[in-house]
This record gives sequence, C-alpha cells and structure tokens, in this order.
Amino acid sequence: MSEEQAKKPIKITETVLRDAHQSLIATRMPTEFMLPIIDKMDKVGYHSVECWGGATFDASLRFLKEDPWDRLRKLRDGFKNTKLQMLFRGQNILGYRPYADDVVDYFVQKSISNGIDIIRIFDCLNDLRNLQEAVNATNRFKAKEGRGHAQVALSYTLGDAYTLEYWTDMAKKIEEMGADSICIKDMAGLLVPYKATELISAMKSATKLPIQLHTHYTSGVASMTYLKAVEAGVDVIDTAMSPFALGTSQPATEVMVETFRGTEYDTGFDQNLLAEIADYFRPYQEECLKSGLLNPKVMGVNIKTLLYQVPGGMLSNLVSQLKEQNAEDKYYEVLEEVPRVRKDLGEPPLVTPSSQIVGTQAVFNVLMGERYKVATKETKGMLRGEYGQTVKPMSQEVIDKVIPGEERITCRYADKIENELSKLESEMKEWKQQDEDVLSYALFPQVATDFFKYRQAQQEKVDMTQADTKTGSYPV
Ligand code: CO
Repeated sequence: MSEEQAKKPIKITETVLRDAHQSLIATRMPTEFMLPIIDKMDKVGYHSVECWGGATFDASLRFLKEDPWDRLRKLRDGFKNTKLQMLFRGQNILGYRPYADDVVDYFVQKSISNGIDIIRIFDCLNDLRNLQEAVNATNRFKAKEGRGHAQVALSYTLGDAYTLEYWTDMAKKIEEMGADSICIKDMAGLLVPYKATELISAMKSATKLPIQLHTHYTSGVASMTYLKAVEAGVDVIDTAMSPFALGTSQPATEVMVETFRGTEYDTGFDQNLLAEIADYFRPYQEECLKSGLLNPKVMGVNIKTLLYQVPGGMLSNLVSQLKEQNAEDKYYEVLEEVPRVRKDLGEPPLVTPSSQIVGTQAVFNVLMGERYKVATKETKGMLRGEYGQTVKPMSQEVIDKVIPGEERITCRYADKIENELSKLESEMKEWKQQDEDVLSYALFPQVATDFFKYRQAQQEKVDMTQADTKTGSYPV
C-alpha cells in the first residue's frame, strides 16, 4: 500500500454557528455577525458547518427578531462549497411536542430546499420509531432532488441498559432504516477516552455507515476522547473555533487539527486561515464576556457532570429552578434524586426534552417532601408512553401512583396524530408571507405570531418612508 492510500484524514464539522454559541451564549449570535466570515470559513475544507437547530430557530424569532429561514438562505448563499448541517428532534422537529407526519415531512422538504444538506435527527429516548418519518422524508427528497443526507444521532448515556450490544444493535437498525450516517451525540461529555475506543471499534465492526462523534468539553475529557475515537476509526468529529470552544461547548477546531498534523489523520487544513477566522470571533467573545452574555463559569471543567451524569445545561436549569423557589440549599438532594427519577422513567438518556422532564420532576419530589405527590404534565405523558418506548421498563409503582388506571400507549405516538398542516395554515393565514411561515408557526405558535406582527410593523415603516420619498406625503 502506498503512503497516499494509507491516509485517512479525519473530517470535521464546525459548530461555531450552532452548538458552540448555543452552549456558551444562549444562541444569541446574530446573522449579521456571521455573514462577513463565511467566505473564509468556506475555504477551510470542513466536512460540514452546523448552523441550524431548535434553539437557533427559537432564539432567532424570540430574541433576535430574525427570520430563521432567511438566516438559512443567507448562509446557503455564502457557503458555496461547504455542506450545511442542522439538528432535528425527530418527531418533535425543532419544537417541544410531537407533530403529525405531514408537518415533519414538509419541514424536512423546506429545510433542504432552503439550503440544509445534512439533517442530524435524534430522539431523547433513542426510540427509532420517532426518527423514521424524518429519515424517510429526507430520502424521498434526495430521490427527487439529489440533495439531502439523513444522519441518525444516538443520544449517548450511561446505565445498565446501555451496553456495547445495545449500541451495536442500534447501529445495525439505523443502517436498516435507511440512514446515511450515524452520530454518537454525547450531550454531557460522558464518553471517556478509553470507552470511546471500545464504543467506536464495536460500532465500526457492526455497520458500514460513516460514524460521527459529537461531544461537549463540560467534563474536561473531550479532546482526549476525540483522539481515541479517531484512532478507533471514527469518521467525523464536531469541533468549534477556539474563541467559542471548550467549557460547555466542543473541543477547539485548531487544537484538533494540530493534533493530527503529519499523521495519517491529517486534515490538511490551513492553520493560518483558521487563525484569521479565530481573530474574527475573538473580539465578539470578549464583548460577550463584558456584557455578561458569556458567563466565565461555563468555560471551566464541571466535574459534577461525571459524578451525576447529567448535562451541564441541566445543572444550570436545576440551579435556576431552585433559586426561584428559594431552595438553593436543596441542590445536592435534587442531584441525588435525578438518577432515581431517571430509573423510574425507564432510564432514558438526558437530552431535550427528557432532561427537563426528569430534572423538573426531581425538583418537585424533593421540594414536596414526598415523591410524585405532584407530577408534571410531562412526567405523566412520559409514563403514558407518549414520548416513546424507553430502553428499560418504567416503575410500575410510580405508574400506579401517577396515572392510576390510565391506558398506556405502545404504538408510535405520531400514529395517533391526524395530519395537521392545513389546520395550522388556516390558523395563521393572515400573517403568511412565505410558505415557510406555517412551519415557524407550527413550532412556536406564540413566538412566531409575535415575530410576524413585528415583521409587519417593520415593513409598514419601510412603506411609509418609500411613500414619503416618492410622493412627499404620508399615507393616511
Ligand atoms: Co451538542
């Protein structure tokens, strides 16, 4: 074998335009800030740039008063050579409730036609039935238009049920369901380096699909985990440009590039070009630190994520929930209740929305002084099976206490939801200016409606100035 053939450059997905600013600055990076650097980012040679997902969509409409579809189109215009990637919550799309298949299908179509290449689809319970429709929709679009890549992401977690057999069995099923690649999505940075060797080696021997690894720096092991994963044959890793790397974000792009330089995994990226890109993001990071948007606390290593096996974002949610109740002294009691609630609910991975469901229920259990004296609507839904099937059975005792005598769902929940696109269209038709507006409304009805009103007010203001310059008078 020649030296050339032996090379296996590691591919890189850049997360600075999605997960990195979601993890560090509450997804507040505006489109106008992104656009000037796209040209340089497009020259790096990234496998893909992750730029869209639930939080970016929500924050655009809610806080930045931007149309997320417009952002996507602008990014697509700028990235001539690089694939764009998004994160998709299975049957929940980018929202917080399960949608009918017609909405899932339409969202996939519109995402790809507006510029997305790779759709990373995950489910908080790893229930593949919740991913099938999004995968099918992507494949249908691909067959018709020649674009679109369905990546199924497995939410990584620890627990009795999550053996190597579990992960390899899932990999085979994902291949059978027609996905183009697999991602291990480690929200909390729980995958430690030598476990990564075992996991990636096992999965590579179970499937021919490319495998991508996504992790967070929260617990401090992420760069080492990538190193071992790459040596074990992982195909793609997710990294962030250094000003928005580390802490609760991803390992730094430049660091991983340098780590593999001169080896068979050499990315070939130009470190000078990366430095220019970092120079663009650094003053913005400093500005975010000054304004308080970036809290230096999230930049460190949080070893509690390893101890309690919960994602960093969930820890900060628990703190703020307890603060609201003037019960910060109960923090450690709640942290110890989290794994017990998780076990009662079938030991799910902790990722949106299961992380919120388990966390909030743990807070209630501790503050009420009696477990499940009060159960949230979401805990009930989970116990009824509305979110899907868990890997382990749920506690019968808790089921009997919280939803006594109620019927539980064993089918795919979306099979029970009637097509809803036309109903949604009729609810929002007075605001519709583009096809995509119905999807914004479907995901975040109130936030999208507020945005539509804002957009209209802005446009009327523009019309007034135009009228003014054209005719010299204001319309009455
Ligand atoms: Co992430």
